Amino acid sequence: MQSRTPARKPLRVAGAALLGMALAASAWAEGAASTADGIDMPSTGALRAATCVTCHGAARPVPGSRIPRLAGMPADRIERAMRDYAAHAGTGELMGQIARGYDARTLALIAQWYAGLKPEAP
Ligand code: HEC
Repeated sequence: MQSRTPARKPLRVAGAALLGMALAASAWAEGAASTADGIDMPSTGALRAATCVTCHGAARPVPGSRIPRLAGMPADRIERAMRDYAAHAGTGELMGQIARGYDARTLALIAQWYAGLKPEAP
């Protein structure tokens, strides 16, 4: 019994290292986009979704927030919602303003990232 907990720890560390490597590899595969200032930004879903995470949280929701969670939501549902918001933009509605700023490729990256997140308790 006693030897169980210490034995599992290195496994978790190895898992985190593997995940980091996978993330780095996917960043490489998705390429990079240059900003107007020539700064290379990797086009990963996680990076592109950083703005959304402020309000929608990631795997965990923003504490105390009633904004709907996107973690685990099917990617096509997120993309459809964003297209609908963008189509009705101009009404001053919050998500309408936000949705207008994204092209289809970036939205797909964000939607896939959220779809792949396993929702966790707050
Ligand atoms: C400033 C806060 C804020 C930010 C930033 C934000 N959202 Fe939202 N979002 C909301 C709120 C509030 C709602 C629910 C009310 C509404 O529909 O306006 C919502 C609703 C949604 C919904 C519909 C959820 C459902 O269950 O129907 C989707 C999808 C969504 N947002 C995607 C995104 C994505 C993708 C991003 C990043 C590109 C983003 N949001 C950024 C506040 C935000």
